[in-house]
Amino acid sequence: MEKLLEQAADIIINSKLTLALTGAGISVESGIPDFRSAGGLWDRFDPAEYATITAFRANPEKVWEMLREMDDVVNQARPNPAHIGMGELEKMGRLHYIITQNIDNLHQAGGSANVIEYHGNASTLSCLWCGKKYKTEEKRNELPPRCECQKILKPDVVFFGEAIPGDAMNRSFELASSANALMVVGTSAVVSPVNTIPGIAKQNRAKIIEINKEHTHLTDSVTDVFLQGSAGNIISALVEAVKKNN
Ligand code: APR
Repeated sequence: MEKLLEQAADIIINSKLTLALTGAGISVESGIPDFRSAGGLWDRFDPAEYATITAFRANPEKVWEMLREMDDVVNQARPNPAHIGMGELEKMGRLHYIITQNIDNLHQAGGSANVIEYHGNASTLSCLWCGKKYKTEEKRNELPPRCECQKILKPDVVFFGEAIPGDAMNRSFELASSANALMVVGTSAVVSPVNTIPGIAKQNRAKIIEINKEHTHLTDSVTDVFLQGSAGNIISALVEAVKKNN
């Protein structure tokens, strides 16, 4: 692993534009279950019934059973060494943007400023009928949370079947097309269109550093350096390796 960390640190130090693409795996050590590992959220809630915009419109009360459970976990979660390490890399000028699939705000809480939220953020709620917005905090004791127009509110996260926020999509594509290095952390990379980012970066000759506790379909196809293990340990060690050779 030592040698691989040195290789990854070398890539980062020689990169003028370094991005990271993160998924639920980076927040597991903060107590937020991921989706597709054993015991993940989709083991307990069928995404077809709980995570599509059609399901939400058809039965918002039911979907809010899952959303409230997620909100309780996210609300108690704190940034772990992986989030904090990425914040450090940003401060060192060694990580320029994070594109995250996560809606837990932990990158920002961990010190990262340049965060592109590809799937939105759970800290605000919107009314699909009158457009009024609320802070999730304001409505935490209501289940399901309702707008003043009495309709049930929806978190500002992207459900399956909804469009990705245009600015997030365009900015991510632009950055991936000119990155020299891309760190892919804690994602199974099975959900599109976000999972096109590693391929776009690779096509533009970026070096891909993958950090995951398991192999993914990227590992043997686009990954240049695979650092296997928990994101917290690996990123902490990677930050030390970058500092040593900086
Ligand atoms: N350290 C490193 N990797 C980890 C850790 C950890 N502690 N724990 C889990 N992982 C890895 C898993 O091996 C898996 O490859 O993180 C990945 C999590 O994959 P998913 O659960 O599929 O999460 P993600 O890739 O973020 O899902 C993408 O799917 O359901 C939608 O909108 C949802 O944004 C989500 C999208």
